[in-house]
Amino acid sequence: MNNTYGRLASHVYNLDKYIGKSFGDVEYYRARLEGCAGPILEPAVGNGRALIPLLEAGFDVCGFDASEDMLDYCRAQCAERGFAPALSRQTFESFTYQQRFDAIVVPAGSLQLIGHHAVASAVLRRFHDHLAPAGRLIFDLYPNDMVADLQPNIRSWQTETGDLLTLNSQRVKTDIIGQTTVSHLRYDLWQVGRLVSSELEFFTMRWWGVQEMVLTLQAAGFVDIVVTGDYAFGRAPQHGDHVVTFECQRSG
Ligand SMILES: C[S@@+](CC[C@H](N)C(=O)[O-])C[C@H]1O[C@@H](n2cnc3c(N)ncnc32)[C@H](O)[C@@H]1O
Repeated sequence: MNNTYGRLASHVYNLDKYIGKSFGDVEYYRARLEGCAGPILEPAVGNGRALIPLLEAGFDVCGFDASEDMLDYCRAQCAERGFAPALSRQTFESFTYQQRFDAIVVPAGSLQLIGHHAVASAVLRRFHDHLAPAGRLIFDLYPNDMVADLQPNIRSWQTETGDLLTLNSQRVKTDIIGQTTVSHLRYDLWQVGRLVSSELEFFTMRWWGVQEMVLTLQAAGFVDIVVTGDYAFGRAPQHGDHVVTFECQRSG
């Protein structure tokens, strides 16, 4: 039940963060990958929100995700556009490929879904080992929501068939030492005012310090680390920035 992105959660994600929606990340990743001819991996690819624009821009991208429901959206929306990238059900913690990648990209703060520093460190080493020499890792962290999301919150979306999906979220735990928060996410599907299905998910996020991440990347073997605030490449992050992007290279 933790960070599972089940059927209703994936439906909401696809309605809210549909293909074509960008937080500035899609344009930024496309620009940073300019000239990258080799294979690119997007772990936690989700519904393809970032993958599909990269495919449309001509990049050779594949992906994996832990959620079969998310992958179903991704496969269907790729097929609608005539793409058939390699997509598989795998996890950050245990994914494996024979090939090595010229770049690995993780937008949308997905790395923050790993709740333990030791596990995330091992995942970063796994990324490192799946890169070709001088291959690049680029990913985002969202620093702000740790303090921003304390109040219960309800949102709603109309589905393609006119039903209603609602999401109630409430922070239930803040672990200052572990740098994690847990929220309860309750998804409900309503048909003509009648509840037809519900889903409860525990949503864990880990909140990294910028220097903590730099040290962790160095320990995983990465070099040439550039930390960027709000997608102005090379501009050090500052208080108030919405997103912090890390770009680094596999050594050797
Ligand atoms: C915020 S969404 C990002 C989706 C997409 N990358 C994007 O930019 O819109 C996070 C994704 O991480 C996936 N996920 C969560 N835990 C995971 C894990 N341990 N391994 C692989 N994927 C995971 C979820 O299923 C979900 O699709």
